[in-house]
Amino acid sequence: MAHIIGSISTSHVPAIGGALARQKQQDPYWKPFFDAYGKAREWLGRERPDVVVVVHNDHGLNFFLDKMPTFAVGAADVYRNADEGWGIPPLAAARGCVDLSWHIVETLVADEFDITTCQEALVDHSVSLPLALLWPEGKEAGEWPVEIVPVCINTVLAPYPSAARCYRLGQSLRRAIESWDDDRRVLIIASGGLSHQLDGERAGFINKPFDLQFMDSLVDDPTWITQYSNEDLVELTGTQGIELLMWVAARGALDDTPVRQHHAHYHVPISNTATGLLVLEPA
Ligand code: DHB
Ligand code: FE
Repeated sequence: MAHIIGSISTSHVPAIGGALARQKQQDPYWKPFFDAYGKAREWLGRERPDVVVVVHNDHGLNFFLDKMPTFAVGAADVYRNADEGWGIPPLAAARGCVDLSWHIVETLVADEFDITTCQEALVDHSVSLPLALLWPEGKEAGEWPVEIVPVCINTVLAPYPSAARCYRLGQSLRRAIESWDDDRRVLIIASGGLSHQLDGERAGFINKPFDLQFMDSLVDDPTWITQYSNEDLVELTGTQGIELLMWVAARGALDDTPVRQHHAHYHVPISNTATGLLVLEPA
């Protein structure tokens, strides 16, 4: 049976792709951000996952406003990165773990999640940048050392699923992974958030106290966030801060075991975003 080694939750911002392409890791603006990933990379070097379930949100690349699934699961053998524009080269395509994809699809549907199954999908910065930050040598080699299963949660077009529902989605992902008849080591990545708002009157809004409390809660009190409605969360974290739902789902996937915080980092801002990084492992 497959085994979940832990989770890495991280913010994502297209500008990180620009910084990687221009090798700005040592630039004073970027250094505190990039340096934080060193500890996560060391941990990955020891834990050596084979497959990554990436819980992320699409930003209009696969699903636009006319067709918007609440939850979508990739079941493709390859996920090509379509870049964010700005003339930067696309990152390497990710290899899909089709067998785990279908097992997740079957488990989620049996658990009454009405998902969209995608036998073809592109990936944007929400999938490619965590891979590039965590396996920079893969960026140089043009391939990543893991296979992936992208799991997409709609945070682009209201109504969004509640935090409680996203947590249950994570619990169902855990049931799927732990019942997968394979001995590979699985990492959960959450990609999104934390507080940010890209447009409107509150553009640039960041709520550091709330972000830090949320990150703390994920260690020992993982359903703390479910006291808030999505309207509350948008008010507290900005219109795009709702991307923190990815972190909630990832935590749901570690639900059954006590967890330990291996590494946490918070830095504001990168572009318009409060960037968080949290590595959790079974205690
Ligand atoms: C930014 C943040 C995001 O999460 C995103 O998807 C796009 C842009 C930003 O802060 O620039
Ligand atoms: Fe985003």
